[in-house]
Amino acid sequence: MKILLLGSTGMLGSDCKLVLETDYEVVAPSSKEVNIIRWDTVIETLQSVSPDVVLNCAAFTDVDACEADEEYMRKVNVEGPRNFAQGCARFHCKFVHISSDYVFDGQKLMPQPYFEDDAPHPLSVYGRYKVESEVAVRDNSPNYIIVRTGWLYGRNGKNFVKSVVFQAVSMKKKTIKMVSDQYGSPTWTYRLALQLKKLIENDGRGTYHATAEGCCTPYEWTEAILEKLELKTKLEPCSLTDIQRPAKRPVNCVLENRNLKEQGLNIMRPWKEDLDTFLEKYGPDLISEAKNQ
Ligand SMILES: NC(=O)c1ccc[n+]([C@@H]2O[C@H](COP(=O)([O-])OP(=O)(O)OC[C@H]3O[C@@H](n4cnc5c(N)ncnc54)[C@H](OP(=O)(O)O)[C@@H]3O)[C@@H](O)[C@H]2O)c1
Repeated sequence: MKILLLGSTGMLGSDCKLVLETDYEVVAPSSKEVNIIRWDTVIETLQSVSPDVVLNCAAFTDVDACEADEEYMRKVNVEGPRNFAQGCARFHCKFVHISSDYVFDGQKLMPQPYFEDDAPHPLSVYGRYKVESEVAVRDNSPNYIIVRTGWLYGRNGKNFVKSVVFQAVSMKKKTIKMVSDQYGSPTWTYRLALQLKKLIENDGRGTYHATAEGCCTPYEWTEAILEKLELKTKLEPCSLTDIQRPAKRPVNCVLENRNLKEQGLNIMRPWKEDLDTFLEKYGPDLISEAKNQ
């Protein structure tokens, strides 16, 4: 099987490359080589690579910057997926697209999770782009997988785990304030990459939720990171409403992997188990990187 991987320099894309390369031929152009917003480049790439599957991990992921609603950000997040959905239809290949928990408004009362067929109602421009991208994929590609995920962390790219280590080690913060009234499932990009591989291998079709099992608040997530890495920084709880950011965040970001489970394909692990494995593997490197910053 030949896979065209977009966004391979990103946090999720780099782990997908690692995981998929073990068994398949992976073509992973940079954003300079293939800019997904350019229709002519998309068609030329599909023609020359002739992939069986296109996996789209490329996106503009700065949620707050998206509030500026600039044309470029919409193009990357909506027109890019639309281009590939149409191109994949023309060249008869499967299109796998990554979406987000931010398609929902998070108003469901905890502990109720969101299911694949719940109606999207985004609170932010980024969330709206993701909904539009899903519609573009469904409308244009006869053979697609949409995977909604959230609260990603991994070895590469900016993420929550690295930011906590940075605040504790590099900034030497005595106290970190963390939100204690928002809920989600911290998801390791490496695990998600294994899940995407499983979905592709089993010819999954349609929309799936794929996040780690169980859920926590950012406060509990931070507590688990500090404890595992034996960092002495203290934690103070605060409310999501105390944090002023351009984009509104959903309170309940918990997704149930119902379709994966019903099809016997769910390999996602409990969030704490994966976080511990990740920190055992990379914690010392993250600490020394933070010390050198
Ligand atoms: N991070 C999260 O917590 C989270 C949560 C839910 C869903 N998601 C979704 O998961 C996917 C992967 O997210 P991530 O956090 O791994 O993203 P990321 O680290 O920000 O990486 C984004 C990737 O997209 C590429 N890219 C940007 N614009 C492009 C363009 N015009 N043409 C081609 N490539 C372009 C970037 O290339 P350059 O490096 O060259 O710019 C980079 O490789 C995205 O769809 C995101 O919306 C993420």
